[in-house]
Amino acid sequence: MRLSSPKINIMHKACLKASKSLIRDFGEIEKLQVSTKGPGDFVSAADKRSEKIIIEELLKANPNYGILSEETGVINKDNKDNRWIIDPIDGTLNFLNGIPQFAISIGYEEKGEIVSGIIFDPIKDEMFFAEKGAGSFLNNSRIRVTNKKKLKDCILVTGGPKFNSKKRDIIFQEYIKISNSVDAPIRKFGSAALDIANVACGRFDGYWQWELNYWDIAAGLIILKEAGGFVHFMENDQKNLIKKNIIASNPNIHQELIDSLLKKNIE
Ligand code: IPD
Ligand code: CA
Ligand code: CA
Repeated sequence: MRLSSPKINIMHKACLKASKSLIRDFGEIEKLQVSTKGPGDFVSAADKRSEKIIIEELLKANPNYGILSEETGVINKDNKDNRWIIDPIDGTLNFLNGIPQFAISIGYEEKGEIVSGIIFDPIKDEMFFAEKGAGSFLNNSRIRVTNKKKLKDCILVTGGPKFNSKKRDIIFQEYIKISNSVDAPIRKFGSAALDIANVACGRFDGYWQWELNYWDIAAGLIILKEAGGFVHFMENDQKNLIKKNIIASNPNIHQELIDSLLKKNIE
């Protein structure tokens, strides 16, 4: 890897170990035991196995670091200065249906700020990673966001709404509105972590989504920023900091995308 640091090395090792189990499970998808967590939100045995491996590796390296992980929740809650934010499979629904679009996402937070992160797509063997001040990488290459200047010319990606979302109708209307602002049809791939990573490496120009959880995008934040991208959070809920509504894009279209999304009247 071109970017090597103690934190990146630890996350890298944890990702590779967990991905071996994920790839095996993906190959045997039909035999997986699946349990329901809530409407539209599935958790698989593979998810839990992947998480266990990641947590064990991270704790082996730093037994006192805090952890926020999707399935397990919080570990070492008193350490707020050093914290790993983990999504053991982002794109679970894809995974369960044999669609090869999912990733492991691990972000490392220092005093409340994500300073490094890894998103690993084990099927495409694509490792996105970044560290504050050191740039963003895909495998051995430095990555950058696109340079397109007009929203109309851009290719955007989004996700949701969740099945039980209270904003379902608004989100669909918004989809229509933004579709009318761009020439290319909007993409939906079902993995927030990969959506952001794909903006960071220039495959998409921008991404937005309501009702995410922090672990979906934690690693993506630093990967996008270090690739020159901008992030904006919509309607922050100070009482529930895990919930995130995000706009992430290249800097040139950022304001135009924010304005288009946040204009009160749905045209
Ligand atoms: C989901 C994915 C999906 C997004 C959902 C998330 P999961 O995460 O990121 O793209 O639309 O809101 O919950 O459940 O697969 O880890
Ligand atoms: Ca997720
Ligand atoms: Ca997940």
